[in-house]
Amino acid sequence: VIAYKNFFENALSSLKEEGKYRYFNKIVRERGNFPYAIHYKGDQKNQITVWCSNDYLNMGENPSVIQAMIQAIEQAGTGAGGTRNISGSTYYHDLLERELADLHNKEAALVFTSGYVANEAALSTLAGKLPGCVVFSDEKNHASMIQGIRFSKAEKRIFRHNDSQHLEMLLKQFPKEQPKIIAFESVYSMDGDKAPLKRFIELAKEYNALTYLDEVHAVGLYGEQGGGIAQKLGLEKEVDIIQGTLGKAFGIIGGYIAASSAIVDFVRSFASSFIFTTALPPAIVAGALESVRYLRSHKGIRPVLQERVSYIKQKLDEANFFYFNSITHIIPLLIGEAHLCKAFSDRLLNVHHIYSQAINYPTVPVGTERLRITPTPAHTPEMIDHLVEALKEVREFFTEKRSYGT
Ligand SMILES: Cc1ncc(COP(=O)(O)O)c(C=O)c1O
Repeated sequence: VIAYKNFFENALSSLKEEGKYRYFNKIVRERGNFPYAIHYKGDQKNQITVWCSNDYLNMGENPSVIQAMIQAIEQAGTGAGGTRNISGSTYYHDLLERELADLHNKEAALVFTSGYVANEAALSTLAGKLPGCVVFSDEKNHASMIQGIRFSKAEKRIFRHNDSQHLEMLLKQFPKEQPKIIAFESVYSMDGDKAPLKRFIELAKEYNALTYLDEVHAVGLYGEQGGGIAQKLGLEKEVDIIQGTLGKAFGIIGGYIAASSAIVDFVRSFASSFIFTTALPPAIVAGALESVRYLRSHKGIRPVLQERVSYIKQKLDEANFFYFNSITHIIPLLIGEAHLCKAFSDRLLNVHHIYSQAINYPTVPVGTERLRITPTPAHTPEMIDHLVEALKEVREFFTEKRSYGT
């Protein structure tokens, strides 16, 4: 018989020994005061600066979004009260889906409880139901896409990260008439690099494949109205399914797909994790709607973020830090070892009151542990200077003990 308790405890001990155990830092943001937040540690409360938030454009404290949420909660109460099919669909859901379809220049959109669920639901349904479908998946795709593909039980081929030649080699191995989906991200969340979108679309056309594009780290941030990289490159119409989140640049929670009416209706009609779960609360949906509208019309916010990104990269270059080949707002600073990565992050927090969470396996491969720095428009040049000085101090502190990847 298995000793259950030992099994679980031993597994956790190994995680700790390997430096892969996940410690949560308890922080509470203060509305109107971002990127400052309060860090709760035992009896202590310290003000810290957050440098690892996915609330990329500070929409989490946007007054018009907050107002829209308060109004909706006063009107409709808290929860949706049911699944989308059974009493949980509101007027707000309908408006949000129409807004998202419009944002991405698509016929329709469908909202899910998170970006994770959107990927899992859409990919498992599409790849699972298309007869004989083969999925071509970038090796760095997010866990939610991987899970969706797994659930579909479709045949799959993994292509080397952003490598169109490898993708083509794999596509060639299947008859043209066989259904195919190419699944990839526009902006990779842990490396900050971008997919060769135009080339992937060309290949999809040549080999008769659908394209499934995760724009989670691009929506709100890129493109004239914040429609993502496909919008920025004028390729929205060419991508078959665009997936996004309402939880990062839009600052709330939820996920979605935007596509043709037939594809959206198909997923709506067959996806288990869409059908059998309570709908997002009306206040969440009303807030998301306001956030999407706000970011579509307030175009000036995106260049401010890019200015901050250029400034921080310049400072990191001057200080000789290595941050992968990031060409976006995501700046991954290589540390290269799990224990050191955590110690680095802890010292930043405890000594310098800077919060940048250590990113370890399985989020990134072993040996590439990193800090993932995400500036926002609220991070001033002075805060950036402070961050870089702190990083230098921590690097010096640990260089005396061992070397790491700078
Ligand atoms: C590339 C990618 N896709 C999907 C998701 C899931 O989105 P959400 O956080 O809304 O569930 C994430 C979240 O980290 C992500 O990085």
